[in-house]
Amino acid sequence: MTQTLGGWRRSHTCGELRAGHVGRSVTLMGWAFRRRDHGGLVFLDLRDREGLTQCVFNPATAAAAHATAQEVRAEFVLAVVGTVQRRPPGTENSKLPTGEVEVQVTDVKILNESKPLPFPLEEETAVDEAVRLKYRYLDLRRPHVLRNFVIRDQVCRAVRDYLHAQGFLEVETPFLTRSTPEGARDFLVPSRLARGSCYALPQSPQLFKQILMVAGVERYFQIVRCFRDEDLRKDRQPEFSQIDIETSFLDRDEFLPIVEGMIVEIFRRVRGIELPTPFPRLAYDEAIARFGTDKPDLRFDLELRDCSDLFRGGEFQAFAQVLASGGAVKGLCIPRGGGMSRKELDDLTGAAKNLGAKGLVWVRVNPDGLQSPVGRVLESAKPALVARFAAAPGDLLLLVGDVMPLAATVLGRLRQELAHRLNLIPADQFRVAWVIDFPLVEWIEEERRWDPVHHPFTAPRDEDLPLLDSDPGRAKAKAYDLVVNGQEVAGGSIRIHQQSLQEKMFKLLGISAQEARARFGFLLEALEFGAPPMGGIAAGLDRLVAILAGEESIREVIAFPKTQKGTCPLTDAPAPVDPAQLRDLGIRLVEGS
Ligand code: AMO
Repeated sequence: MTQTLGGWRRSHTCGELRAGHVGRSVTLMGWAFRRRDHGGLVFLDLRDREGLTQCVFNPATAAAAHATAQEVRAEFVLAVVGTVQRRPPGTENSKLPTGEVEVQVTDVKILNESKPLPFPLEEETAVDEAVRLKYRYLDLRRPHVLRNFVIRDQVCRAVRDYLHAQGFLEVETPFLTRSTPEGARDFLVPSRLARGSCYALPQSPQLFKQILMVAGVERYFQIVRCFRDEDLRKDRQPEFSQIDIETSFLDRDEFLPIVEGMIVEIFRRVRGIELPTPFPRLAYDEAIARFGTDKPDLRFDLELRDCSDLFRGGEFQAFAQVLASGGAVKGLCIPRGGGMSRKELDDLTGAAKNLGAKGLVWVRVNPDGLQSPVGRVLESAKPALVARFAAAPGDLLLLVGDVMPLAATVLGRLRQELAHRLNLIPADQFRVAWVIDFPLVEWIEEERRWDPVHHPFTAPRDEDLPLLDSDPGRAKAKAYDLVVNGQEVAGGSIRIHQQSLQEKMFKLLGISAQEARARFGFLLEALEFGAPPMGGIAAGLDRLVAILAGEESIREVIAFPKTQKGTCPLTDAPAPVDPAQLRDLGIRLVEGS
């Protein structure tokens, strides 16, 4: 029989009682976690958000409570009244903060019952993700799952405290709005009042935050949901959260330390880690040359080296040709990698080809010389090759000759993959860096046009302005990414705030004045009314929390995430809608689509 609270009041949480509470009369409320029957005595671990407390039901001293305890099943909701006592010597549990004590129960109420569970809530059990998400409310009761949300809350609090202390205002921006320029596909919301028209859910508040700068807000932030209809991965969700920031009157070098301060504060508060400042800065070109990626994982070395000079005009035709047509030969030395089997080396070559390279040359550094399938033609380059990497016997050299940046990016992927496989990545270490000086635009060969690398409002470096006319591909942007352990955690830029430069940029990108007006007319008009110099950044909150929590997937730090297919197993969204709703919106579905 279940009962109501009937005036009972919780005196403590289940994580609170210590030896100092011995002798106190307490009332606890929570869920029945584990129950053990020990020849008369019933032991029941009561769990709430804060922890577990062992409750003892003794038939000799509290017969009614003991009888009730025998009816209790997993996850029944209970209220117990009893006295705190020290656990008998030898039965303490040093793993539990409450492990020195137990509650000798005098009275108990069953506040609610529970159906048998679809999966046990013990930490150790691995449960299929679809089942976990369908019963997310049970999954979240598991202390190790809930822990991620405590971390998430701490991060949000640290962000708000820090940014408020720096004079930032938290301002909300609309969800029902127009397409934003982040380049993913929009989620559309059809309008009932304006039939045939749609709102777009924002991919970020980019346009609004720039308008807030025109409005004189000066320092804006928002912890905000963003929506992008893109292919999902473990670090991508269709709706995710950003710590979105914009400032006025600051150039890059004044702005980045403010963001560093926020990241330092988060790591300090959440993990007790003091990150050294200033964060190292890597130019984009340098990141590609040394690590083959603009998101380098700096927890381990394994740097790429350029070997072009060793093969130019040489006997090895494949490399000589690549070099003659403007490509590069990049190399990577894997310490003690020489022990890899022929099959493993073939697999590496296959992986390089899958990544787009024409091939991969491997070279084993043996005590008696170099061994490679193309050994003969490497002859003249051999000594210099070993010297370039300071390679020792037992090491493995990997070489890729191709166009840039492909030669570097292929090796960059192998670098990460091999570091993982060979256990070269230290656990629980955080390496933070800025990547700066991104290219402003990239050439899209199929469409024969320039595309912005960040977005069309990103400013070029002052010294690169003349390149917009002469050689746009060489112009660098005032854009920056924050990279933590090989993941892009934040990205932003100093914006173009002058209309004339913005027009020039649109022209370069092949966006006509008409198209610009149609897509972002409201922003362009605002920029004509005294827009201050401005710049900002957005950090992926989910990614940051996942890194701090040591989780591989951001789904572990989102309360109700979507699956890889964009569905929600709890609510079954997305779902077909009532035809009447579609009729109201003036929408007819196409058969078979
Ligand atoms: P950007 O598109 O680089 O910049 O996004 C900023 C950060 O948001 C995170 N992020 C994601 N996290 C989870 N799932 C996704 N689908 C996803 N997409 C992005 C990343 C990324 O670094 N308006 C600009 C910012 C600016 O210029 O100020 C913007 O949105 O961690």
